[in-house]
Formats: sequence, C-alpha cells, structure tokens
Amino acid sequence: MPRDAYVNGRFIPHGQAQVHVEDRGYQFADGVYEVIAVHAGKLVDEEPHLDRLDHSLGSLKIGWPMSRAALKLKMRELLRRNLVREGIVYLQISRGVAPRDHAFPKSKPRPALVMTTRHARAPNRALLDKGAAAITIPDIRWQRCDIKSVSLLPNILGKQQAAEAGAYEAWQVAADGTVTEGTSTNAWIVTKDDKLVTRSLSHAILSGITRLTVLGLAGEEGLKIEERPFTVDEARAAREAFLTSTTSFVLPITTLDGKPVGDGKPGALSMRLRDFYLRYMDAEPAAPEARLSN
Ligand code: PDD
Repeated sequence: MPRDAYVNGRFIPHGQAQVHVEDRGYQFADGVYEVIAVHAGKLVDEEPHLDRLDHSLGSLKIGWPMSRAALKLKMRELLRRNLVREGIVYLQISRGVAPRDHAFPKSKPRPALVMTTRHARAPNRALLDKGAAAITIPDIRWQRCDIKSVSLLPNILGKQQAAEAGAYEAWQVAADGTVTEGTSTNAWIVTKDDKLVTRSLSHAILSGITRLTVLGLAGEEGLKIEERPFTVDEARAAREAFLTSTTSFVLPITTLDGKPVGDGKPGALSMRLRDFYLRYMDAEPAAPEARLSN
C-alpha cells in the first residue's frame, strides 16, 4: 500500500491526497506524465525519462513546476517514505488551476505536480512462459503521440478492447496498414531473416525509454536492427513479436488476433533481449542519451 502521495509541494497520506476541481489536468487532460521503474531502490533510466518529460512539457508550453534537481530529490523522498525498492513512480504535471477556459490561462498558474508510487507486482511467470496475446485495432489517436499526455482515451478504449478479447495489449494500426504502437507499449517484430524491427520515431509514437534502451542493448550485441514502420501482414508472418515498456520490460507476444506468431511460443531472441534488459537494470548503467523525435 502506498503511504504518501506528493501533491503540489506537500507529502500527504495517499488516501487523503486531492487536487483542485479546476485543475486543468482534471478538466481538459491538459497535462503530461511519466512512469519510471524502480529496481533495487534505483530509478531506471531516470535521465532519459526526465528528458522526455522536458520534451512533453515544452511541446505544450507548460513550465517545470520545480527544477529538475529538486524533482529528483522529491521523487527519492517519496520512494523513501513509501519504502519502494521495486516498483514505479508516477508523476503528472498539469498546466495548473484556473477558471475553466480553453485558452491558456492569462493568470499563468503554477504547474501542478502530483506524484505517487506503486510496489511492483510479482512477475507473472505464467504469462512469460506462455507469452502475451495481442489484438490489432485502428489507431484513432491524434497526431502528436510523441507527447506523453494524460489525454489517453483512445489508449484506454483500446486496452479495454484487448482485455475483453482476453488479450494483454492492442497494437494500433495506422490507415496505411502499419503498426504504430501498443496502447501503453512499443511494438517489435523479428523477421524470418532475424532482423529486429521497430517503428522509427516520429509524431506517430511515443519515444519509449525501454525501446531506446533495448535498441542500445541489441546494437551492443551486434543484432541486425531496422527502425522502420512494419505492416500487420509482416507481423503475422514474423518469426517473433514482442512489446517493451517501463512496466512490462520486454514481453514476448505469441498470438496476434488469435493466430500464433511464429511457432506460438515466446521467441528465443525476445527472451534474450528480456534477459539483457533485466541485467541492464541490475547493473545500474550510465543513462543513455535520449533520442527524441523532432
Ligand atoms: N506507458 N507507448 C505508449 C503509448 C505508452 O504509453 C508507453 C508507456 C510506451 C512505452 O514507453 P516506456 O518504455 O517509456 O515505458 C509506449 C506507460 C508505462 C504507462 O502509460 O503506464
């Protein structure tokens, strides 16, 4: 159970933490967020996450609520208070509190910062052994998916559709038949000739930090990498498929729309990359440079 949340300058018991009814995050989804993994008490890839936060804030012309250094201290203080050594920290910054009006408030309110933590759930061995199911759905999102905005309705609806189909994730498909990304994960395939393929960065996807790290690890291992869009047909014909995210790490996908991917078992390369990633988290590496789109 989380003990405290951080809300606009104060640590408050989680159950009592509240934001103002006219917080623009609440009324307009006018805010951004980050989810950072905590492993062995360390924040995994903290710097690239904060770089992406800066990109999201800058894209929406929302200021930092405090300096980057101060934010790092507050995150650590919250993790310490909540005794989190394995889990996540969630942080959300909205444009602040102002009477409801679509245009940015002239009063220039202070951006509102909320942070919570969660202990990690035990790794689901059964899911790993079997691999995850994914479905495909049309990508109905806006054209700035590179911004990690709290406006997540299409993602929520997609994930719910996946849940109702008994699947773990929904891969969103653009009008041209290419897979953009999952509702909360990046999408990857391994082709029959052993190429690792994931969509190149653009406004069409979130620049996943796990994606970035896995690309780096795969490069170090000398794997063949292609950053380019791939179609649903290619995914169906692929040898392996997997997804990456802060909370799922690297997770093999073994069925797509109910049909097996490859031999229908977690792929060897996917599992190798998962191991590399777990080792990377153990090693407390120097944070790689963030490569953000645009
Ligand atoms: N989701 N794509 C989307 C749309 C996402 O929301 C996420 C992250 C990712 C993977 O990014 P990363 O590797 O930085 O976690 C890709 C977070 C975990 C969430 O919404 O909870």
